[in-house]
Amino acid sequence: MTQAAEKSETLSLEQLTQNAEAEISSANTVDAIEAIRVNYLGKSGSITSQLKTLGTLPAEERKTFGAKVNEIKNAVTDLISAKKEQLESAALNVKLAKEYIDVTIPTATEKQGSIHPISQVIEEITEIFARLGFTVAEGPEIEDDHRNFTALNIPENHPARQMHDTFYIKSDDKDKKYVLRTHTSPVQIRTMEEYKKTGKLPPIKIIAPGRTFRCDSDQTHSPMFHQVEGLYIDKEVNMGMLKGCLQEFVETFFGVENLNMRFRASFFPFTEPSAEVDIGCSRKNGQIKIGEGTDWLEVLGCGMVHPNVLKMAGIDPTEYRGFAFGMGIERLAMLKYGINDLRQFFESDSRFLKHYSFGSIDIPKLSSGW
Ligand code: DAH
Repeated sequence: MTQAAEKSETLSLEQLTQNAEAEISSANTVDAIEAIRVNYLGKSGSITSQLKTLGTLPAEERKTFGAKVNEIKNAVTDLISAKKEQLESAALNVKLAKEYIDVTIPTATEKQGSIHPISQVIEEITEIFARLGFTVAEGPEIEDDHRNFTALNIPENHPARQMHDTFYIKSDDKDKKYVLRTHTSPVQIRTMEEYKKTGKLPPIKIIAPGRTFRCDSDQTHSPMFHQVEGLYIDKEVNMGMLKGCLQEFVETFFGVENLNMRFRASFFPFTEPSAEVDIGCSRKNGQIKIGEGTDWLEVLGCGMVHPNVLKMAGIDPTEYRGFAFGMGIERLAMLKYGINDLRQFFESDSRFLKHYSFGSIDIPKLSSGW
C-alpha cells in the first residue's frame, strides 16, 4: 500500500470512529444503541467489514492495519456497552419511579384484608408467654418418626401411636421414617438437642406454635390444625411453677381475673406426672361462658417432662427437670371468640373473616391493655 493509500485508510478508520462516537453519544434509547451496535459491529457492520478486508492486504500491512481496526473495534464495543448500561439503568429508574407505591398509605377500608382468627390467637398466646420469659422455637412440619414419637417416650408399637392417626410419608431412606408431625411436641426434642449440640446450658424456656396434622376430618377435627407447645427446663422446676404459669396464661388469654383452673390427673407418655387442665365455665342453652358457673372445660394438657425424654434428648435428668404443656389453637380460638364450627377456619369464606375481623395489622388484642 502506498503512503497516500495508507493515509486515506487511516482517515477513514478515524472517520468511522468519530462517527461511531458521535452516534453513540447522541443515542437515547436502548433500541437505538442496539441499532448502532449492529451497524458497526454486526455481521456486515462497517467495522466488521474493515476486518474482512484484512485478507486482501499484503502480509506486511495486515499486522498494523489489523491492530488498528481491532483497537477501534474494542473502543467502540466499550463505548456501546457503557452507554447501554447507562440507558438501561435510566430506563429502570423511570420504570421504578412510575411503579412506586407508598405502602404506608392506608387502603380503602373495603379493600383491607384482616387477620385470621388463628393468627390472631397465635399472636396473643405468644405475647402472653413472651411476657413470662418464653421465646419462640420452631420445627419442621415434616418430622422424623424418631422425634415425633420415639424420643417422646412413644416407642414402636406403643398404643399412643395408633391414637395419633399419623400421615406417613414415603421415603427411600430405610433407616428413617418421616411423618407429618402429629403434634408440636417434637420441637421440645429439637430444642433440647440444639442446646446439647451447641453446648448451651438450660434454662430452656420456649413455646412452639405451629401446624400439626392427623388423618381425621369431621365437625370437630381437621386434618391440619394448630398447636402451641411449651417447655421449661431448669434445675429447680416443679409442678407448682407449671400451675402458676398456666393460671397466668388462662386468666390473661380469656381476660378473666381469678379464673377457676384445676389440674386433673391424666396420662401422656412424655410427661410424668401428667395432667389435663380445666377452667371454670357455665353451660346454658348450648352456650359456654368462661369464668362463670360451676362446670369445667378442658383446655390443655401438661406435666413434668419424663426423665426418659430428657435423657433421649441429651439432658441429664439427675441435674435438670422440666415442665411441658401443649394446647390446640383452634379450640382456644373457638372458645374465646365464640366460633362453633371448626371447619369455618379453613373455608376461606371472606364473610367469616369479616365477621371475626381483627384489623389488617397483626397486633395482638391484648397489647393495648399492657
Ligand atoms: N402432644 C400432646 C397432644 O398432641 C399435647 C401435650 C400434652 C403436650 C401434654 C405436652 C404435654 O407438652 O405436656 O395431644
